[in-house]
Amino acid sequence: MQDASKAIYGIIGNPVKHSLSPIMHNTAFKELDVNAEYRLFPLEEFELVDFFKELKSDQCPIFGLNVTVPYKEKVMGYMDSFSPLAQKLGAVNTIMINKERKLIGYNTDAPGFISHLTELNFNPEGKRIAILGSGGSCRAILGTLCMLPERPESIRIYNRTTSRLNDLIKDLGERIDLSIVEMVYSVDDLNIELADLLINTTSVGLKPEDPILVEEDMLHASLLVYDLIYRPKATELLRMAQDRGAQTANGLNMLFYQGVLSFQRWANMELPEEIKTKMLNAIERALDSD
Ligand SMILES: NC(=O)c1ccc[n+]([C@@H]2O[C@H](COP(=O)([O-])OP(=O)(O)OC[C@H]3O[C@@H](n4cnc5c(N)ncnc54)[C@H](OP(=O)(O)O)[C@@H]3O)[C@@H](O)[C@H]2O)c1
Repeated sequence: MQDASKAIYGIIGNPVKHSLSPIMHNTAFKELDVNAEYRLFPLEEFELVDFFKELKSDQCPIFGLNVTVPYKEKVMGYMDSFSPLAQKLGAVNTIMINKERKLIGYNTDAPGFISHLTELNFNPEGKRIAILGSGGSCRAILGTLCMLPERPESIRIYNRTTSRLNDLIKDLGERIDLSIVEMVYSVDDLNIELADLLINTTSVGLKPEDPILVEEDMLHASLLVYDLIYRPKATELLRMAQDRGAQTANGLNMLFYQGVLSFQRWANMELPEEIKTKMLNAIERALDSD
């Protein structure tokens, strides 16, 4: 039987079935003894209009959502308002639905990524950064690196589809100073050999049959290689980087930090440290059991 008083939260995207967000958020609900559940909402693009129409209904039990691939930019058009950061970045990964059923869009990917870099003791100030990709997560990462008060020295960025990269730079450039950013048209021109940080924001590496985007000899011991992918735990890129003596990180802690920030938005409270630790432990265990 459906429990009418249960509040529903969840993640929309396509695909969503491998998401660790339900484990993380349901751990917090359980620990806080809250009558709420976080669910997966796999949606095809044509289903978005009806889904967002339903969200507006007073009877709808959904009060918060995360947004993942490939809808972080597309959902912008359904929001009633945005946080200043989501507005600047042009990407939403967290939606809060208030009592009047108004939809407010936030971006917690960007601060989540920066929190993880800080945990890794990597300060982007004055650094040379290379980025692969131009999708929704890249938008948040590129934008936030360029908005730091102490900025990197340079950011080189490459994407398989040049027109998408052009559109990203043109759109972000209307609101954010991208003078440190250079678009390049091949992986060779990323100058990874001279970089301090390489970030993979593409979905390449999710599947075993995916191509390898960089040559092993471009990677080196003074590089941090950051792959947003966390499942598998170590993509082929991270394995190659480890072999070359580079520092490596997957995106699990970014997922954790952005999830904590999303939860705090929905609950309008600061999560106690012990609950955060339980959320992180829950997703680490889930990944270890793969
Ligand atoms: N750790 C976290 O918290 C976190 C947060 C956000 C995202 N992520 C992960 O980051 C990845 C990207 O997410 P997103 O939202 O940015 O996705 P997206 O908007 O769909 O963008 C996908 C990107 O991957 C590129 N790509 C896909 N297949 C490729 C291939 N075969 N060769 C070269 N490039 C390819 C695309 O290039 P084209 O433009 O050429 O198609 C595009 O740049 C996903 O794996 C997601 O799970 C992790």
